[in-house]
Amino acid sequence: MSNDHDHHDGNDDHELRVSKIRDGTVIDHVNGGQALNVLAILGIDGSKGEEVSVGMNVPSDRLARKDIVKVEGRELSQDEVDVLSLIAPDATINIVRNYEVIEKHRVERPDAVTGVLSCPNPGCITTAGEPVTSKFEVLDDAVRCVYCETIVRDEIPSLIDT
Ligand code: CTP
Ligand code: ZN
Repeated sequence: MSNDHDHHDGNDDHELRVSKIRDGTVIDHVNGGQALNVLAILGIDGSKGEEVSVGMNVPSDRLARKDIVKVEGRELSQDEVDVLSLIAPDATINIVRNYEVIEKHRVERPDAVTGVLSCPNPGCITTAGEPVTSKFEVLDDAVRCVYCETIVRDEIPSLIDT
């Protein structure tokens, strides 16, 4: 028996898949499939009782499919936003106070990130035990180690130092 009345008509404005939060941060328009990486960047694994809601691969007008992460009682540092921008370049950061969005901004991709990603090249000077801090230039859809020029795209989440 099918009793499915979920006829999605493309008008997402009046649908709320994940409850509103009272105070905290909503990271919206995250590329579909990246929500768990967003949580990893924020150091959230649920073990400290963090109050978090996640929507994955939900319809969006701006992206084909989006993820959304809502974190109660937490604001993000600029470093965290910089790293987020590498895996979620279209993300919107919404600061919520008393249920209202009081601040909204798009993430901006920095020109370079220093000390946040480890180079996957074992021969790179930054991984050879020398006191050289990693530095990657941020390209349109990837990052490039400034020391050995290794280009990283899909593996970015697994190279984040936290
Ligand atoms: N939101 C929330 N809790 C609140 C207020 C807002 O979870 N107390 C969420 C909304 O569900 C939405 C995001 O925060 O996913 C941004 O809210 P809002 O600016 O009201 O929505 P839109 O105008 O649709 O945002 P945008 O234009 O950025 O798509
Ligand atoms: Zn390198």
